[in-house]
Amino acid sequence: MKVEFYKHNLGAEEIGLVGKVLRSLFLTTGSYVDDLEIKLSKYFDTSFTVGLTSCTAALHLSLLAAGVGPGDEVITTPMSFVATSNSICMTGAKPVFVDVEKDTGNINVDLIEGAITKKTKAILPVHLYGQMVDMKKLLAISEKHGIPVIEDSAHALEAKRDGIKPGQKSFGSCFSFYATKSITSAEGGAFTTNNQNVAKLVKKLRSHGITSELAQRIRTGLKTYDVDVLGWKYNMDNVQAAILLPQVKKIEKHWKKREEIAKKYRAAFDKLGVDMPREYKNSKHGRHIFPVWVSAKKRDAILEYLNSNGVGAVINYPAIHLFSYYRKTFGFKEGMFPNCEEIAGREITIPLYSKLTDSEVSYVIKIVGEAVKG
Ligand SMILES: Cc1ncc(COP(=O)(O)O)c(C=O)c1O
Repeated sequence: MKVEFYKHNLGAEEIGLVGKVLRSLFLTTGSYVDDLEIKLSKYFDTSFTVGLTSCTAALHLSLLAAGVGPGDEVITTPMSFVATSNSICMTGAKPVFVDVEKDTGNINVDLIEGAITKKTKAILPVHLYGQMVDMKKLLAISEKHGIPVIEDSAHALEAKRDGIKPGQKSFGSCFSFYATKSITSAEGGAFTTNNQNVAKLVKKLRSHGITSELAQRIRTGLKTYDVDVLGWKYNMDNVQAAILLPQVKKIEKHWKKREEIAKKYRAAFDKLGVDMPREYKNSKHGRHIFPVWVSAKKRDAILEYLNSNGVGAVINYPAIHLFSYYRKTFGFKEGMFPNCEEIAGREITIPLYSKLTDSEVSYVIKIVGEAVKG
């Protein structure tokens, strides 16, 4: 049997709507993007959403909107996809890592206050694997020090903790619609917030800083525009929005399927004695990916066994501070963030997506069992 690492769940509805856009005149940022932004805000229970070309773009622009620039520091986690800290470097600021919780992989919120300096301009937590960090605690630190929190919610589209959803109480939250995310347009992203001024600024920054995008000029009859701030080229287009729009309606249905699969995996792996991240109470897990933590000595052999038996599996993630660029540029070394390094050495991500069949799930469990015993 072959169980792919990921299979998207796109079909006739998405193809139909993309066809409609392609047969229309207007391909770039326009009414489909506007519609998607409204529907996503409704789903997130926030007031404003901005469609972008990636989560990286959302992170970069929201950091800029928070005033982050050269000479500043941003506190974040070394256990994430490198996009998180790269987006900080893109602004010219320095990523200041704090270690993660040993049993979840999420940034250890208790260590954040100790990392704040006069240069700290933002805190950038990642809701790793789909579990939200303790936002109540983090927001209290943010308020006390007057430092904004920008959430990397690439894994946490569906998540909620203590009644708080991503983007509701922070400066804003960043989402990814990359190829393996729970809704996807191959590449794509969004920023959501309750702050109208921040949303307006991010919208301006997505199109070079121009004061009104083409669709808006057509709508209002404006003939020209000004550029009053330097922006980037990160605007989502109507084709991407058309792929995403039908998926928004299916977010919860597909999440429920992944939740069922995750529960099956957890029950089976508990019996096998396989280590997995602790799950928080009062929390809805986004179920973006499913990690298992195996013995560091056997990790590569286990990964090889899974792959050679047809189970797609990958490592999420290598420790960011140990990448050559980060060592060279900031002087990070082994041993600086031991919990992160331990997880990076033990982690394997196995298939988790709504199209997985029961027999595929059983097969994955069987092969993981053989691999960890062998
Ligand atoms: C935690 C995290 N942050 C950011 C990103 C970047 O997302 P994108 O590829 O949409 O820029 C990813 C992508 O996988 C991610 O996993």
